[in-house]
Amino acid sequence: MAEKDGNKTAKDYGIGIPSPKQTFHVKGMDNVDWGMKNRLSRIFHPKSGHTVMLAFDHGYIMGSTAGLERLDLVIPPLVPYIDVLMATRGALRAAISPSYNKAVALRCSAGSSVLKDDMSTEVIGVNIEDAIRMNASCMAIQTFIGSNGECSSIHNLVRTIDAGNRYGIPTLGVVAVGKEMARTTKYFLLATRMLAEFGAQIIKTYYCDEFEKVTAACPVPIVIAGGKKLPEADALKMAYNAIQEGASGVDMGRNIFQAENSTAMVQAVRAIVHDGETPEKAYDLYNTLKAEK
Ligand code: 5RP
Repeated sequence: MAEKDGNKTAKDYGIGIPSPKQTFHVKGMDNVDWGMKNRLSRIFHPKSGHTVMLAFDHGYIMGSTAGLERLDLVIPPLVPYIDVLMATRGALRAAISPSYNKAVALRCSAGSSVLKDDMSTEVIGVNIEDAIRMNASCMAIQTFIGSNGECSSIHNLVRTIDAGNRYGIPTLGVVAVGKEMARTTKYFLLATRMLAEFGAQIIKTYYCDEFEKVTAACPVPIVIAGGKKLPEADALKMAYNAIQEGASGVDMGRNIFQAENSTAMVQAVRAIVHDGETPEKAYDLYNTLKAEK
């Protein structure tokens, strides 16, 4: 059995050495079935290989969140500029038109709220039949590596991966950082790799120092969460750096819907993710679009 202490330090990440050529455009997914590839292609654009996911599932733990008070008003103007709606089934069914031709990353874990100090215990909150009914392109499960809820969250993840594999639906493993855990490169290296080894087809994590090591060591695509609201220029720089360092996209919420002009912001983020725009040019675009409104 592998031991906890006394191991050699992992350091040979082969930074700069490209992965062997794949036939499919999503990292590590050459060997999955047609249906799963089709769903992954709805998430990751075949041309850029990247994705802009709009996360607006915050209500599942935070209730009414700044910028998301009215889902029916806030989300529709952003939809043309995104690839994926990341949301709960309740929000989608009640407030979002099913006629948008966008992929859905369905929030499928649930179980705690911001009222609790320890939010690391969740359950699978959506069964596979309802995920299919919602036409989910992937199912998102929160994990809490190193926290009290570590084991139960891994259980939620692997059960969902098993169910998704039965029907060709990928699972998005979300790295949530418990209050007691530090957001270090070491932590993200550990958590992202664990989730990929469990079989998650996509990993969501936070950006960190030496992020290129995290993406290099993770055999499946990584998308970054935006985290708390930053000045727009800083959020664009973070998105740019993440893509340059191997991320396959963003799954951003507050840094889009809490921006001074959310429609301009989502377009600036898209320019970075899909068009390889620099953060400076993207920020100019943001200001230009903001001035037009
Ligand atoms: C929580 C989530 C949320 O969807 C996501 O992190 C929120 O996005 P942002 O941090 O960009 O507001 O997965 O773990």
